[in-house]
Amino acid sequence: MRKFMLAAACLGVMVPVGAVMAGYTDAKNDPAAREVEQALVLKGDPERGREVYLLCAVCHQPEGWGVQTGEYPQVAGQHASVVIKELADIRARNRDTPTMLPFAMLEHLSVQNMADVAAYIERMPMTPTNGLGPGTDLAQGERLYQDNCVECHGEQGEGVPRKHMPLIQGQHYTYLVRQFEWIRDGKRRNADKEMVKQIKGFTVKDVQAVMDYVSRLRPPRERVAPVGWMNADFPNFVREKPPGGDLEEP
Ligand code: HEC
Ligand code: HEC
Repeated sequence: MRKFMLAAACLGVMVPVGAVMAGYTDAKNDPAAREVEQALVLKGDPERGREVYLLCAVCHQPEGWGVQTGEYPQVAGQHASVVIKELADIRARNRDTPTMLPFAMLEHLSVQNMADVAAYIERMPMTPTNGLGPGTDLAQGERLYQDNCVECHGEQGEGVPRKHMPLIQGQHYTYLVRQFEWIRDGKRRNADKEMVKQIKGFTVKDVQAVMDYVSRLRPPRERVAPVGWMNADFPNFVREKPPGGDLEEP
């Protein structure tokens, strides 16, 4: 998408960014949506993004895998368009992320920084050992997923970058459950309205079953790092936890 828009911008073609965002956010009246538009037309430089990521590694870890208990999500492998959208929402306070908020403010993160760090994050290989659910209701989880989620998040939870549909495969179970509840209950104030409608009737057990299933959806093998892999981009990072997060069972 970004490549297309850049190419189009070079040719002086009008790019219908509004069309991409249509039905999703109101770019005219919404500062977060305006920032997303601005960041999406910039070319993200992963090399510069690596320097920005140093700020993020404290919580999301040098590998971008977060922690298995889901306190910090895995960001590695997320579509750049989604990372940009979430960063804009976090600093517009559309999401309640008090610990991260200071790091996401403009003085630390220009719109160009957002594009750069998103380009870096998108290329990071994903964790082979994400936190999983209890594994008790996977058939129910699969059924719910097929009926309610596939059209937006894809067969394998791979998302749709062009439409800012997040990749959710291989994410930590506890984080998935928390985000799902927050989206359902309106705590993520700029979440997808269609999704909110779709999941309104979910029971506690439904949520657990579908998220357990999602946590077990595997990314393509070439997108997953080997167990114990360490990100050589940050050789001096002082680790409190081994790569892959806290290794206790969720
Ligand atoms: C002080 C800890 C902390 C730092 C530093 C931090 N984050 Fe976060 N981040 C979090 C937490 C906690 C969440 C999850 C919030 C929630 O549960 O809604 C989060 C969520 C996110 C999300 C949303 C993930 C999703 O799947 O929706 C993105 C993207 C993200 N962070 C990127 C970054 C980037 C880029 C940086 C560096 C510029 C950064 N974070 C720095 C703690 C941090
Ligand atoms: C109509 C499209 C749509 C449907 C249907 C839908 N989602 Fe979503 N979902 C989205 C969008 C768009 C977002 C990003 C919201 C935002 O930007 O805050 C999202 C966000 C999420 C997140 C948070 C991801 C993150 O990294 O923070 C999870 C988890 C999730 N969806 C799971 C599901 C599951 C499970 C289902 C089915 C039960 C489902 N969604 C159905 C569109 C949809």
